[in-house]
Amino acid sequence: MAEHEHTTGIEALANEQRTFPPTEQFKASTLVAGTQLYEEAAQNDEAFWARQASELVHWDTEWHTTLDWQLPYAKWFDGGTLNVSYNCLDRHVLAGNGDKVAFHWEGEPGDKRTITYQDLLDEVSQFANVLKGLGVEKGDRVMIYMPMIPEAAVAMLACARIGAPHSVVFGGFSSQSLADRIDDAEAKIIITADGGYRRGEVFALKPAADEACEKTSSIEHVVVVKRGGNDVEWADGRDHWYHELMDGVSTDCPAEPMEAEHLLFLLYTSGTTGKPKGIMHTTGGYLTHVTYTHKYVFDLQPENDVFWCTADVGWITGHSYIVYGPLSNGCTQVMYEGVPNHPGNDRLWEIVDEYGVTIFYTAPTAIRTFMKWGADEPDKHDLSSLRLLGTVGEPINPEAWMWYHDVIGKGNCPIVDTWWQTETGGIMISPLPGATTTKPGSATFPLPGVSAELVDDEANVVPVGGGYLTLTRPWPGMLRGIWRDPERYQETYWSRFPDRYFAGDGAKLDDDGYLWLLGRVDDVMNVSGHRISTTEVESALVSHPSVAEAAVVGATDATTGQAVFAYVILRGGADADEQTLRNHVAGEIGAIAKPKRVFITPDLPKTRSGKIMRRLLRDVAEGRNIGDTTTLADASIVDELQSKAAASADD
Ligand code: WTA
Repeated sequence: MAEHEHTTGIEALANEQRTFPPTEQFKASTLVAGTQLYEEAAQNDEAFWARQASELVHWDTEWHTTLDWQLPYAKWFDGGTLNVSYNCLDRHVLAGNGDKVAFHWEGEPGDKRTITYQDLLDEVSQFANVLKGLGVEKGDRVMIYMPMIPEAAVAMLACARIGAPHSVVFGGFSSQSLADRIDDAEAKIIITADGGYRRGEVFALKPAADEACEKTSSIEHVVVVKRGGNDVEWADGRDHWYHELMDGVSTDCPAEPMEAEHLLFLLYTSGTTGKPKGIMHTTGGYLTHVTYTHKYVFDLQPENDVFWCTADVGWITGHSYIVYGPLSNGCTQVMYEGVPNHPGNDRLWEIVDEYGVTIFYTAPTAIRTFMKWGADEPDKHDLSSLRLLGTVGEPINPEAWMWYHDVIGKGNCPIVDTWWQTETGGIMISPLPGATTTKPGSATFPLPGVSAELVDDEANVVPVGGGYLTLTRPWPGMLRGIWRDPERYQETYWSRFPDRYFAGDGAKLDDDGYLWLLGRVDDVMNVSGHRISTTEVESALVSHPSVAEAAVVGATDATTGQAVFAYVILRGGADADEQTLRNHVAGEIGAIAKPKRVFITPDLPKTRSGKIMRRLLRDVAEGRNIGDTTTLADASIVDELQSKAAASADD
């Protein structure tokens, strides 16, 4: 472990000296080779965003006010109306691009579908009519709980078409997580599938949707796409097969203009308490932000590019860079259902080769996994179509960056390390690939139109060195609040530093002004690029009848960035083993939150005032020697935990 830590840790970033200017070849065809966009935005960011909105988005009605900013609430493009689905579909078909491929979709078993913009428009229009037929009206919330199949995008766009905000729940979440979100959103409908393919097998989704319906009271209909072919239970009147509802339905469903600030979707994400937050994104600003960033960060040439973002639509990355950004830009994409190692460890490279992918966007965890599998896997395929690579979701260590650059990009592809969050809606800090000299491991600079600063504990601006990342100006894609919880919105993002949005991340500015993201500074873990709160996992653990107390920390992990480590005190006389408790968490939240290790311990290190010392638990989990433990109520517990951790490292 110890050697790996140095390659994923902050020390490696601090010593990074290599620089990579854009190549002459890349610059020759890039959209932005110089600093003009930065200069324009620095002059007047509002005017800059207004220009992006009018150039990149189709509006049915012009806005009268570009920005109405009453901290912490922004209204962008107020008075304007537009339809997101029209922007993603109709306008491309009307421009004569109906035959252009929107998605090359590939199922995990190897089945394929080619979907053109005309196909997608027809299916979305039909499904929008289906939703209307089920009584869905503008403003009604719709849950989407699906595998990575084209119908997931169809469902999202159909909701957008009729102004029904969707809330996509990642298919790996448990029925309990789904139920919590249904309750919070008071959703009327669930769109799901019988099951999907993962690691060569069908994983069922419908049973979890059924359970969630039983636990909640607002769902009137469940629409089920047939994908896995697995047996499902059926509630007559409530449940409907997608293909039966779609049969013979008209493809005519005019896109109704929505107000710029109409709620487009809710997406739940983990915060520092046990209850997930429903992050609110609206129509005009969000679409402008994702269209702009998708175009310029990925240097998009829509005639030639084949874009592939490997995220799941259940996360913000899938919303912004599989569905809304790329389709608004009218580009061709790859969408893949399954895991990267089925049937072999070269599946993704086979797909890159097959479809001639030019832009590839993935997470550092995936890159570190590919590194473990070795260069032989990508070397089996022709990757020469690639011209640009991206990463998102967590800090990328320079070693993984270099591997991505050399082995996947063959030294020819710029890398855009993109920092952003569910809350920001779209990319905020990233190179512009034709203009920015990159450094391995640095997300470089805020994009034109974005203003970021580091501050210290007292909110003083930090010009060089480490600090808290804050955003100092509103941006079009910003969250508009937390669903039905304005206090938490104010408290979480706007109370720590006056007049600043606090992202929850630590970062460092080097002598050249480059930003190096260092990870979360709050109780949110980042496991394989997924956000999980320590409190959420602790609540899941104490919901087990045998557990009296639990403390959870994210410990550095060479592949997944962080891993969930739990320390549990059992109730007197109770018995439960590690495996049972790990599975219990997976059942409560979902497999992504399953602790890597659960240590059962008679006690936890606490201060004399009774506060659990998490930093110390993290030190133990990461195998560091513990220094001063004199403030601990019972210092002997640390020795005990350390010997358990040491024993587990030998496993
Ligand atoms: C982390 C994912 C370093 C960060 C789009 C942020 C990153 C959280 C990067 C948001 C990056 C995302 N470098 N860290 N390039 N991108 N993060 O909401 O801690 O799932 O706060 O959005 O991921 O995670 P979320």
